Amino acid sequence: MSRFDQVINRKNTNSVKWDTKKIFGMEDVLPMWVADMDFPAPDEVIDALHSRADHGIFGYTMPGTNTEIAIQGWLKTRHNWEIDKDIITYSPGIVTAISIAIQAYTGSEDKIVVQPPVYYPFFEMAKKHKREVLYNQLILNSDNRYEIDFADLEEKLSDNMTKMFILCNPHNPGGRVWSKEELTKIGELCIKHDVLIISDDIHSDLLLFDSHYTPIASINKAFAEQTITCIAPSKTFNLAGLQASAVLITNDTLKRKYNAVLQLYGLMTVNTFGSDAMEAAYKHGGKWLNELIHYLEGNVRFIENFLNEHLPDIKVMRPEATYLVWLDARNLKKTDDELKNLLLTKGKIALEPGSKFGKNGAGYLRMNIACPRETVKDGLDRLKNALT
Ligand SMILES: Cc1ncc(COP(=O)(O)O)c(C=O)c1O
Repeated sequence: MSRFDQVINRKNTNSVKWDTKKIFGMEDVLPMWVADMDFPAPDEVIDALHSRADHGIFGYTMPGTNTEIAIQGWLKTRHNWEIDKDIITYSPGIVTAISIAIQAYTGSEDKIVVQPPVYYPFFEMAKKHKREVLYNQLILNSDNRYEIDFADLEEKLSDNMTKMFILCNPHNPGGRVWSKEELTKIGELCIKHDVLIISDDIHSDLLLFDSHYTPIASINKAFAEQTITCIAPSKTFNLAGLQASAVLITNDTLKRKYNAVLQLYGLMTVNTFGSDAMEAAYKHGGKWLNELIHYLEGNVRFIENFLNEHLPDIKVMRPEATYLVWLDARNLKKTDDELKNLLLTKGKIALEPGSKFGKNGAGYLRMNIACPRETVKDGLDRLKNALT
C-alpha cells in the first residue's frame, strides 16, 4: 500500500475544495475540481512546521539565505537550472505575482496575450486590470495533444500595443510540457517584438511519464532578461494554504519594478510557516515527490482504463505533467451547463467545466486526480452514473 492510498477526511477544515455546501450548495458532492491535493505534505515539511509552532513566536518573517540555497538546490538538481540567488523575490501566490506583474509592466492601453484553453485567472486578472486580452488559441493535433499556432502568436505579439505574454509551462489544462524547441520559438518571437514573458511554471515539478521540462529563462541570457518566472512549492507539495511562492527575475530593472509594486501592497514580508515549509520542501522533498509522481501516473492509467471500458465517449488527454486531467466530453453533445447539472445533481461530483478555460474548452471537463485511488474510483463511478 502506498502512503498516498490513505483517505483523510478534509471536511470542516475550511477547505475551499471540500466546503461544497458553500460553493455548490450541496454537502454530498465529491470535489475533484480546484487544484489542491488530498495528500498530506512530506514529513520533513510537517516537522519544520511543528518546530516553528513549538518556538511560539511568529513575528515578521523574510526568507533567509537557507531558503535561497534550498530554491537554488532544487532548481539545479530537479531541472538542471543554475540561478543566482539575487534573482529571487517572493509572492504569497502565483496569481498575486501575475497581478503584480501586470501592474508593474503594462499600462492601461497595453495588450496581453494568453493561450486558451488556459488557467482562467490569466485572462481574468488581465481584464480586472482593464488590459485588452489577445487569445492565441491552442490547436488540437491528431494525437489529441495541444500545439501552438505560431503564425497566430506572431500576429498577436507583433501588435504594437502587446506588451506581455503569459506562458503556462507546463500548461494547465491539457498538461503539455512545452519542448525546448517550442519555447525557443516563443522566446525569439517575444524578443523580436519586445514582449515581456511571464512564465507560470507552478506545475513544473509534477512531471509525469518521463517528460522533460525546460524553464524558458534557462535557454539563453536574452530569454532570461525578458522573462519573469513564477515557481512555487504549493502545487508540488500541497502547500497552497501556506501562501509562499518565488518569482525569479534576472533583469535588474524589471526586478526593481516588481518589488516596487510588492511594497505598494505591503507584501515584502512572507508568511512565517510558508517560508519554513518552502525551505523544508525544496531541501528534503525529492524522494516524496518521486513517489507522488509514480502514484499520479497510476491514477492516470486507472482513469484511462476505466473510461475506455465504461464511458468510451469521453476521451482522456494524457497529461505530461500535473494532476489535472483534461477530459474531452464533446461526443456527448451536451452544453457545459447540462454537463455541470448532470454531474452535480445526478452524479454528485464537482469537476471544472472546460469553458471556464476559454471558448475552445467548451465540452471538456477538468478532473483533479490528486487523491487516493479509492477516491478516483468513487469519482469515476459518479461520472458514469451522471452520464449514462
Ligand atoms: C497555472 C496555475 N497558476 C497559478 C495557480 C494558482 O497559484 P496560487 O495559488 O499560488 O495563486 C494555479 C492553480 O491551480 C495554476 O494552475
